[in-house]
Amino acid sequence: MNDMSKIAIPGETLGAPVTVPAEAYVSSEYARAERDKLWRKVWLQAGRMEDIPEVGDYITYEILDDSVILIRTAPDAIKAYHNVCPHRGRRLIDTPPGARNAKGKKANLVCPFHGWTFDGEGQCIFINHQADWQGVLTPERTSLGKVSVDNWGGWIWINLDPECGPLSDYLGPVPDMLDPFRLENMRNRWRKWIVFNCNWKVALEAFSETYHVQTTHPEFNAFGEFRGWARNHGLHTNIGYEAPKGMDENQAKLRIGSGEDPRLSTAEMQVFTWENANTNTTMTLVNAALRLKDELPEGTPAPQVLQHWLKTARADDEKRGVVWPVVEPTHTAKSGTAWQIFPNFQIGHAVNNMLCYSARPYGADPDMCIFEAAVYELYPNGEEPPTEWEYTKAEDWPPVLQQDFANMAAVQQGLKSGGFRGTQPNPYMERSVASLHYNLAKYMGTGAPEPIEQGGAEV
Ligand code: FES
Ligand SMILES: [Fe+2]
Repeated sequence: MNDMSKIAIPGETLGAPVTVPAEAYVSSEYARAERDKLWRKVWLQAGRMEDIPEVGDYITYEILDDSVILIRTAPDAIKAYHNVCPHRGRRLIDTPPGARNAKGKKANLVCPFHGWTFDGEGQCIFINHQADWQGVLTPERTSLGKVSVDNWGGWIWINLDPECGPLSDYLGPVPDMLDPFRLENMRNRWRKWIVFNCNWKVALEAFSETYHVQTTHPEFNAFGEFRGWARNHGLHTNIGYEAPKGMDENQAKLRIGSGEDPRLSTAEMQVFTWENANTNTTMTLVNAALRLKDELPEGTPAPQVLQHWLKTARADDEKRGVVWPVVEPTHTAKSGTAWQIFPNFQIGHAVNNMLCYSARPYGADPDMCIFEAAVYELYPNGEEPPTEWEYTKAEDWPPVLQQDFANMAAVQQGLKSGGFRGTQPNPYMERSVASLHYNLAKYMGTGAPEPIEQGGAEV
């Protein structure tokens, strides 16, 4: 942290209107500085525990110039090492062309250049012609560089800063809020990645607010008004939807359809969501919604429709061995629909499924990023579908996500316009954007949001 570490985030609610200078999105100098000031200082979500289920299984994670090997060294132990050979600096494990990361299983890691060999503990156990070094090759000189690693929520987290504090301190209130959803039990339904022509912040911010839904996803307007809130929690934020009028917030994260007959509109919204987003729901929920019209009389009020839908879907899943955790309604309401984990990970949680986004730089080019989305749900034991990270062209993503994607390069272009005066996030619905930039400024030493003074002429 630097001088700006004393920047105070103005109040828990971050409700004051601010403007964010475009620098953080478009400046090459800022993008280059991120490597040392940001990416080498923060805890990053680098994979899932189930990606490396057996001893010897490994994956790599790449963030700018750094590549990290995550390897399971015992049934209950995962280690992380810098993916670089201490001999002459070759990457130990190559990422296959076109793949998101390397993965495999190895008892020992052998460098492809001169064959130095490392065990799971990162110790060098073979050096050809070692005597030539006249005895100076101590374990300190030959072992792999360690990276801090921990796990939470089913994810493996790494921190490249040798001086970093514990993950639990970094996550703050997040585990308390999300542990009841048992995210570690969920498995991927699909996971896709893509390279975009925009800064990583532009990509993430397209999903960290609900303000865009009405305009970017107009089809959802037919199902009700999507008014959402955002709250700041130090480094992190969360967002959620306000409960529709006359209903408490016990939504189990699920929206019920509005209009004359909530039985029908809920089913319509579920089918639409399944077909066009393939996120935020499961086949069990869709099927239970389709039965509402047969199981409930016409005129059933919306709260009872919601209750019946969730009760029957929960029972359907239980019959196939899928048990949703029980979360207190007040806790569900407080937890909202998604958490933005600083700096680049979003968890859209629910009791039986989740949708996660992340974005990271693609090289040091401020105009490019790697964007990833992963959808999870609960499966009966042993019935989890095998999935891989699939590089997917924009036109092959679910249509609702394509609507979001259509804004990204266009935002990046606009941010570079000489006529742009800085972003003006909605102080209620887009506080997660302001929070991201307040926190980025603490690490980067520049780019803090500026309050917008009252008193200008009203437009
Ligand atoms: S660079 Fe790895 S063995 Fe030489
Ligand atoms: Fe969207």
